[in-house]
Amino acid sequence: GRIYRAGVFGHRPAVPVEPAALERAAERAMSRQAWSYVAGSAGQQRTARANVEAFDRHRIVPRMLVDVEERDTSVELFGRRLPAPLLFAPVGVLEMAHRDADLAVAEAARQLGLPMVLSTQASVPMEQVAARLGDAPRWFQLYWSREDELVDSFVRRAEQIGSEAIVVTLDTHVLGWRTRDLDLAYLPFARGQGIAQYTSDPVFRRLVAERAAAGPSGEPTPRPTAAAVRALVSMARHWPGDTWGNLRSPLPRAAVETFLDVFSRSSLSWADLAYLRERTALPILLKGIQDPRDAALALDHGVDGIVVSNHGGRQVDGAIGSLDALPGIVEEVDGRVPVLFDSGVRSGADAFKALALGARAVLVGRPWVYGLALAGARGVREVMEDLWAELDLTMALSGVGGVEQVTRDLLA
Ligand code: FNR
Repeated sequence: GRIYRAGVFGHRPAVPVEPAALERAAERAMSRQAWSYVAGSAGQQRTARANVEAFDRHRIVPRMLVDVEERDTSVELFGRRLPAPLLFAPVGVLEMAHRDADLAVAEAARQLGLPMVLSTQASVPMEQVAARLGDAPRWFQLYWSREDELVDSFVRRAEQIGSEAIVVTLDTHVLGWRTRDLDLAYLPFARGQGIAQYTSDPVFRRLVAERAAAGPSGEPTPRPTAAAVRALVSMARHWPGDTWGNLRSPLPRAAVETFLDVFSRSSLSWADLAYLRERTALPILLKGIQDPRDAALALDHGVDGIVVSNHGGRQVDGAIGSLDALPGIVEEVDGRVPVLFDSGVRSGADAFKALALGARAVLVGRPWVYGLALAGARGVREVMEDLWAELDLTMALSGVGGVEQVTRDLLA
């Protein structure tokens, strides 16, 4: 109601309300590299398309003459009542979209009271983001480093800033085949972008110092050596010229190299979850689950929640649309832990469909990044507000007054 009234009285929105127009405007506003990195997905973009198309296979069947004068979009998650079943998905390297980066997102999250999931690949150290978040809930997303000590340090810092959950992202232990970035010879991390969580970390700094003290490797074109980043090396071979040698990093090269060495652990397996469980009492969620068998294993290993996600189609091109994976996982989990969802949500109506298929809440990725690129914190806030408002209207017009009543029988 407030958004409509503001419009009627001549307050134009700062960013387009229509999702396609929002995307077009963001593309115009962003550099080619930033657009390619943010909007681009893996390979031929097939999974990115599948994510969106999956929503078209479900249609809402509205019910009439239900009293929905009083509506409530709130939902409970890990003992906390959220005003809406919407979270800011963890998104790294936001400095590409706007110089306020994670701080702008925190500002919007604070104003809306919606949880922000802080990324391991953030552009701003988590302590600074937390200060801006005020009372808004925050979760921490973990990329599981090859260095145990760094994992410990990230988790400790996440606890110190008041994180209410740890989200372990499983689907990105190596970077996917990002064709658009390859064509632009672009890897933000190699330029020192999106590694603020590391460079602000005492353990990481010690590792960099050790590496620097060991002296130059003697190679003319330094390369990451870790098995976990072998994919990056193979990408570099496809790049024109001496890419590694020509990095214009604002950070010492040792930091970038150390990051590339420690980034992630492809050897991670189910048994390793016990290590994390020993180190934190916070709820642990696994992000990137697409197969009900993995959901069953997650439950066997005592996790507290699942995020059904395919990283917005950025990892395995040709993978199943994330919404298509949701019902099987919801069935397998059978209410034992909350199942969250992301990948492909572009509107409040999309969020409604994911909730109807059994998601407890929905993480939103690219849409608010576009808002960020266009109008900083205000753009982020507007995009999430619009999603929230459309979800509320979709509930009203479908004859449901609360999120718990958004059920599968409302879909055809
Ligand atoms: C991401 N995503 C992501 N996920 C994560 O766990 N850690 C991260 O650092 C990032 N970084 C990141 C950067 C960019 C530019 C994008 C677009 C995405 C994935 C993100 O959390 C989420 O899964 C997807 O964005 C959801 O898909 P949609 O909503 O973008 O379609």
